[in-house]
Amino acid sequence: MSERIIYITTPIYYVNDVPHLGHAYTTILADALARFKRFTGHRVFFLTGTDEHGDKIAQAAAKAGDEPQAYADRISGAFRDTWQALKITYTRFIRTTEPSHQRVVQALLQRIYDRGEIYLGEYGGRYCFGCERFYAERELEDGKCPDHRVEPTFIKERNYFFRMSRYQDRLIKHLEEHPDFIRPERYRNEVLAFLREPLEDLCISRPVSRLRWGIPLPFDRDYVTYVWFDALINYLSGLGYPDSDEYRTFWPQANHLIAKDIVKPHGIYWPTMLWAAEIPLYRHLHVHGYWKVEWGKMSKSLGNVVRPLDLTQKYGRDALRYFLLREMVFGLDASFSEDALVSRLNSDLANDLGNLLSRVLTMIEKYVSGRIPQRMNPESLQDRELIQQAEVTPTTVTGAVDELAFNRALEALWELVNAVNKYIDSTKPWELSKKDPHALERVLYHAWEALRIVGLLVSPFLPETGQAITDQLGIHGNVEAMRIGQAAWGSGPTSGMIRKGPPLFPRVEGGFAAIRAQEEADPANSQVSLAEFQRLDLRVAEIVRAEPVAGSKKLLKLTVRLGEEERTLVAGLQGQYAPEALIGKKVAVVANLQAARIQGIQSQGMLLAAEDAEGRIILLTPDKDIPPGSKIR
Ligand code: MSP
Repeated sequence: MSERIIYITTPIYYVNDVPHLGHAYTTILADALARFKRFTGHRVFFLTGTDEHGDKIAQAAAKAGDEPQAYADRISGAFRDTWQALKITYTRFIRTTEPSHQRVVQALLQRIYDRGEIYLGEYGGRYCFGCERFYAERELEDGKCPDHRVEPTFIKERNYFFRMSRYQDRLIKHLEEHPDFIRPERYRNEVLAFLREPLEDLCISRPVSRLRWGIPLPFDRDYVTYVWFDALINYLSGLGYPDSDEYRTFWPQANHLIAKDIVKPHGIYWPTMLWAAEIPLYRHLHVHGYWKVEWGKMSKSLGNVVRPLDLTQKYGRDALRYFLLREMVFGLDASFSEDALVSRLNSDLANDLGNLLSRVLTMIEKYVSGRIPQRMNPESLQDRELIQQAEVTPTTVTGAVDELAFNRALEALWELVNAVNKYIDSTKPWELSKKDPHALERVLYHAWEALRIVGLLVSPFLPETGQAITDQLGIHGNVEAMRIGQAAWGSGPTSGMIRKGPPLFPRVEGGFAAIRAQEEADPANSQVSLAEFQRLDLRVAEIVRAEPVAGSKKLLKLTVRLGEEERTLVAGLQGQYAPEALIGKKVAVVANLQAARIQGIQSQGMLLAAEDAEGRIILLTPDKDIPPGSKIR
């Protein structure tokens, strides 16, 4: 069995609702996995699609005043459009109303029936129309369906049953022998716990008298197929089962991605159905937690549904991808809020990564006229430490992706980003520019090369960012065609020009605005969280020029140096300090304050000072000498 092949699936989504953040998460996760696997040289088949039969859909269509097929066409189209807008790289989008899928479902039903694994029986039980299934007494809460909070209706009817109970011991054995069949372990345990109770046979039909919107049973036209028995088979029909090359190649490497809500059909119905049809089992079931929004679960009735396209229009595709992949620990629930997204966008993307790229490119433009720095061997300890970090990162990231721990993969990548930031701070190219051109070129090369590796490794997670980084660094080509081998230290191009572009991620101030609005509404709640405080970029700056602002009695226009960069600030210091007394002073500034025009001058930051009872302004200066640009923590 080749290890260089992977088949990745998402659930096929019901068409009774348009795509929301939960659907987008699983699909983005699958897309990042697919892109990463292509990046590591795998052949990938990535399947997603829509689940279009059953009561739920028939009811939603009736409510919308549509025929089920027209309704399904419309909503399925909305899913496809959303995935296109999110640049999801699926191989195939399957719909359960396609004739090719229906043929496979009927062929498998017939085969299982012929093998004596389906029988006609009578069943009376409590049926929830919302869930489209019968409930056992012990599964109800206060006599109600735990999901829909309604009392199930008692119905009695003749139906077809799949002899699922026969497979109970075999499934327990399989789970014990293949501990990674269902991951993470908590969900494997959930299935094992379920299997401690006797497993019942599964009702797999619905009488046409009650529901027409389904695939007819091939052996009894008075019935249609239960929607789960139809839907799960998409994973086979989507590959062109039974005769296609894709089926033969990819099925042995099937990896299903789902959330915790549908563990039972995937962990119990599906493997037993496969056995009954004499088809080998899938390889892994990966289960993630739920995104919670304000007021708990996302639902149409609570009106708290988050639409992915609203977010990408506001913040960009990669910011949404980054937040979702970075914030959720695989298997556990996570909370979604726009403020948390903005906070990550500003700190990790705009500040750590975006500023780093623009800083390095500015120096390459300034010191070596924008040409790609010459490849040079390491000489200092800092060089070697940076290379070491760049060399372990691809392995760490790959290991984390294999466990679907995208949060850890991105953390590892940001360790490299931060190592480059630290490298620049400690090697100080702006000082080398005055005294050591050889060392300057070497430092620029190391920073450029480390950023090249960041650009490549980040691309499966944040494709547009990966492309922008490599483009700006002067590397030609589509990142999607690049491979992890190119992320080895020293394998970048040795000639060419960089092409500095616009900032990767402009900062978003919405987070602060939202907090301010909240404080105004509730002044008692004006405490600042650590995360909010950490968003401030406080720095030591050196004043290099100071002059009064024409027409103002209070203001001075200051030019300050922050590392290699110079900025203009406007400060209310006139009458407090003589301009010439300020030259050479080191002061504290807020470096990431939104720029403002004051008396016609663009002020890029704010100086920190204390005010005494008499209104005297006292500047805050460092206790010992420290280079300008140093961070204040
Ligand atoms: N049609 C079935 C699946 C059949 S697969 C053979 C179905 N559809 S669904 O539209 O309800 O989608 C459920 C899936 O959507 C979850 O398993 C998960 O992938 C995603 N999510 C829906 N809401 C979610 C959250 N709030 N959080 C995370 N993912 C969620 O079930």
